[in-house]
Amino acid sequence: MNKNALFTDNYDISFLLETMMGPNAMRIVEEMANMLPISPDMRILDLGCGTGISSILLAEKYDVTVFAADLWISPTENAQRFSRLGLDSKIILLQVDATKEIPFAHEYFDMIISVDAYQYFGGNQAMLPKLLPFVKTGGLIAVAIPGFIQDYPEGQLPEEAQPFWAPDWYFYSCNWWKALWEKEPGITITMLREMDACQQAWDEYLQSPSWHAQKMIPIMQAGAGKYFNIIQIVGRKVS
Ligand SMILES: C[S@@+](CC[C@H](N)C(=O)[O-])C[C@H]1O[C@@H](n2cnc3c(N)ncnc32)[C@H](O)[C@@H]1O
Repeated sequence: MNKNALFTDNYDISFLLETMMGPNAMRIVEEMANMLPISPDMRILDLGCGTGISSILLAEKYDVTVFAADLWISPTENAQRFSRLGLDSKIILLQVDATKEIPFAHEYFDMIISVDAYQYFGGNQAMLPKLLPFVKTGGLIAVAIPGFIQDYPEGQLPEEAQPFWAPDWYFYSCNWWKALWEKEPGITITMLREMDACQQAWDEYLQSPSWHAQKMIPIMQAGAGKYFNIIQIVGRKVS
């Protein structure tokens, strides 16, 4: 077996296509996790896990204990999926709204990971100080979010994206996220990059039968995708 082969490349693609809620979260979290110091004794919060594709990767590939927390997808739906995969004892499920009370103990998690979700609740100065108490000192917050390759001032989006853009995309640039995270003294940014998986993760999503995925096809066909990236930001809790 090729030691460099990705877990994602060998995963049941029909399961992934039926389960995806956005650009292939397994591919995205695998690229991010490859760069993180993850070991099996860790407790990781997967915040905004959706249907749990990223939680599955973390549990199956890294054997960590995952707390899979989401707002829109019910824990009951996810429990059935995780149970079918034999992951009952590795993934703990909770319904959590990150903008409300966070129901965990302080200094509880080695890491918080969030894939294609943080943009919905974290694009403000309040979220990092809210989450940091739940991470052990020295622990990491690692986020992967779809965004734009540069800042586009109000009304100046590229013309291919203009007809489709809606405020609920919450797409920002690397610089925008960097400036936001640098305002928080409790965290040091250890990595900020555009992810290599972007194109493939989007291409895979467009093959999904879901209505949301199909809605993206004309947007990509119009050429808007060349302005998209997936931004990875990792920060270490310093105090
Ligand atoms: C596009 S889906 C992505 C889900 C999954 N991470 C993935 O990549 O397949 C965005 C997720 O963000 C979650 N989300 C949005 N706002 C949230 C909030 N305030 N608290 C927790 N999760 C939230 C939603 O429940 C949804 O499952």
